Amino acid sequence: MISVKNLKKYFPTAKGLLRAVDDVSFEIPEGKTLGLVGESGCGKSTLGRLLLRLFEPTEGEIVFDGRNIFSMPPQELKKWRQEAQMIFQDPYASLNPRMTAEDIIVEPLKIHGIDIDPGMIAQALQQVSLNPHHRSRYPHEFSGGQRQRIGIARALILNPRFLVCDEPIAALDVSVQAQIVNLLKELQRQMGLTYLFISHDLRMVRYIADEVAVMYRGKIVEKAPTETLYQNPLHPYTQALLSSIPLPDPIEEKKRIRIVLSGEVPSPLQAAQGCGFCSRCPQAQDICKTETPPLQEVQPGHWVACHLLNKLQK
Ligand SMILES: Nc1ncnc2c1ncn2[C@@H]1O[C@H](COP(=O)(O)OP(=O)(O)O)[C@@H](O)[C@H]1O
Ligand SMILES: [Mg+2]
Repeated sequence: MISVKNLKKYFPTAKGLLRAVDDVSFEIPEGKTLGLVGESGCGKSTLGRLLLRLFEPTEGEIVFDGRNIFSMPPQELKKWRQEAQMIFQDPYASLNPRMTAEDIIVEPLKIHGIDIDPGMIAQALQQVSLNPHHRSRYPHEFSGGQRQRIGIARALILNPRFLVCDEPIAALDVSVQAQIVNLLKELQRQMGLTYLFISHDLRMVRYIADEVAVMYRGKIVEKAPTETLYQNPLHPYTQALLSSIPLPDPIEEKKRIRIVLSGEVPSPLQAAQGCGFCSRCPQAQDICKTETPPLQEVQPGHWVACHLLNKLQK
């Protein structure tokens, strides 16, 4: 349903070009969730924003049901803007404090010139399990989890098909994180939604995503069906990321070896020569410093960008 092809977003800065998204390609099938992980600043939000056309790309295309979103005629673009919505990290910062829950939720209908009938509001509140009697309250009168429910209801009111969830639980108490993720899962099941789920919570990504893409310095370095990635990570960066997750089984947890990355994180402005990870990679070889490894399919659906691939599989 969504196909991203050779997508690049470079930001010109005073010190040079910043390659926030650097030649990324992937697909998300309809009704599925792609999890996107990677440390802060690696380009996840920029990629999410490109998918909603909140940024114009430097290069590349995003095809949504056969149509490139960057070259859609205005009428089609207007319709597509309803089909693709965002759920933000911090519901408190993204909700207008002077508007009631009801006004916040119906605002997209007004923006798109759609007639509002009271049934729509009741349905929206019910979808996210908010008490209909609370519709006239203001954001500060709700808990963090309830505010995120308002944000989700607002995103759903236009009946979208695709949602970018950018760290949707990062600002919430641990106790309500699972509730929000379960709500997103349930809504996906009911409405056949397609998700890009951006998060640095690797356990939550494992729980919600069908496939996971690992990003490092603007590039996807590994992508696989979720269980494959968690059970058999092949890229040294993915291995290091996953080694930081505590294991539920105490015996396994005792045996867990945490890979601590040393080396410098290069500035994002530094020219893209060789593998972006080589300065921190515990296994780097000479070739890694000079040649950028291509993303290769090593098993059906399992893609890795690493020169040591053959060695790693042995
Ligand atoms: N509008 C912008 N102008 C210039 N640089 C930006 C802009 N947005 C993001 N960046 C830079 O792009 C890189 C990736 O940022 P971002 O996509 O927000 O990463 P993440 O969401 O993974 O933390 C960072 O170095 C960030 O400073
Ligand atoms: Mg971000």
